[in-house]
Amino acid sequence: MAEKKPRFDTISVKGGYSREDQLKYCTMAPPLIQSAVFPYESAEWAADLYSYKIEGFAYGRINNPTNDILEKRMALLEGAEAGLATSSGMAATFMAAHHLLEVGDEIVCPNRVYGGTYELFHTSMPRMGVKTNWVPEPDKIESWQRTITPKTKLIHVESPSNPNLFVADIPALAALARSKGIPLMVDNTICSPALQRPIEMGADIVVHSATKYISGNATSLSGILVGKKEFVDHVRHVGFRNMGPTISPFNAWLCLLGLESLSLRMQKHSDNAMTIAKFLEKHPKVESVSYPGLSSHPQHEVAKRQMSAYSSMLSFNVKGGLDAARRVINNLRIAVHTTHLGSSQTVAIQPAATTHWQLGPEARAKGGIPDNMIRYSAGIEDAQDLIEDLDNALRSA
Ligand SMILES: Cc1ncc(COP(=O)(O)O)c(C=O)c1O
Repeated sequence: MAEKKPRFDTISVKGGYSREDQLKYCTMAPPLIQSAVFPYESAEWAADLYSYKIEGFAYGRINNPTNDILEKRMALLEGAEAGLATSSGMAATFMAAHHLLEVGDEIVCPNRVYGGTYELFHTSMPRMGVKTNWVPEPDKIESWQRTITPKTKLIHVESPSNPNLFVADIPALAALARSKGIPLMVDNTICSPALQRPIEMGADIVVHSATKYISGNATSLSGILVGKKEFVDHVRHVGFRNMGPTISPFNAWLCLLGLESLSLRMQKHSDNAMTIAKFLEKHPKVESVSYPGLSSHPQHEVAKRQMSAYSSMLSFNVKGGLDAARRVINNLRIAVHTTHLGSSQTVAIQPAATTHWQLGPEARAKGGIPDNMIRYSAGIEDAQDLIEDLDNALRSA
């Protein structure tokens, strides 16, 4: 009888760590192999390892048995051939881009991205001779089409985007990218593979800030990229060897523990965020709410097609401008005021004054980040407690 393929929730708990591995390491949970180096079997074995004739653990900068389990588990969850864990989400995006781009190449990307990604493409990549062309109307596929040039070697999209929740039509973008022979990279941080699987929609590479939902409780800075084995191997063997953006085994281990409850958390995050978005939509002190699960969201139909739930993150604009939004932030008592999303605890922040400050007013205006916007990531606490916390804070607006 053919062996049955495990389903998503089984992979979350067991993927990449087989029954044989459990017996070998004598642990039910994946082991934390806190080692920078690994003894070699023989001179011949080492020579084969270093010339890539066999797979194995050569040096902690390149791979590690704990990291390996996380990489395999994430690749399985995303439906990709291979994965590579990185020291942060930014490292994942940078390493993938660095592998694909050379001096004179161009990236196509909407300005609806996390501030760090915007800055990477806007200020760091040009120092390496790579330019970014920003898609002016990312909700229209023609706008992407017009932005692509013969020099475009990477299309990057974050969906939904941080902080304004733009939702890109991933299958349409994948079809466009394929027709032009350009790889499509999707930042799937906000959904995690529990809610959205871009590879199945035609994307070539998926990156994550695993710092968020994957680890789940704001304990470990971490990232992951997944894609074709040939691509991932190359990033590992060249990029990791030469630049070293490796995740620590301890952080990889924390991510593995986090993955065990990913589906459960994503459902509760999504239920809480939906309840809160509906509450805020009716609140007299709130100008507008952006949440892909609301029918008022401009890409709600796209979100419905490609996401199985709408995740924790929403943003809302407070009536009364910057100062009113500041007062709301200062009066939240359950939501933690910090730059994070996707943790079990609810967090809130004012992006224009913090995460997206570096962009400057013009880029923020173009990217749809007004001063009175609050980004809110609903945790897995009781929804009614969160509503009362928000209601109380909004009284001060
Ligand atoms: C969507 C998205 N991508 C990438 C990153 C960068 O991840 P990290 O902070 O793990 O480097 C973030 C950080 O907030 C993010 O929100």
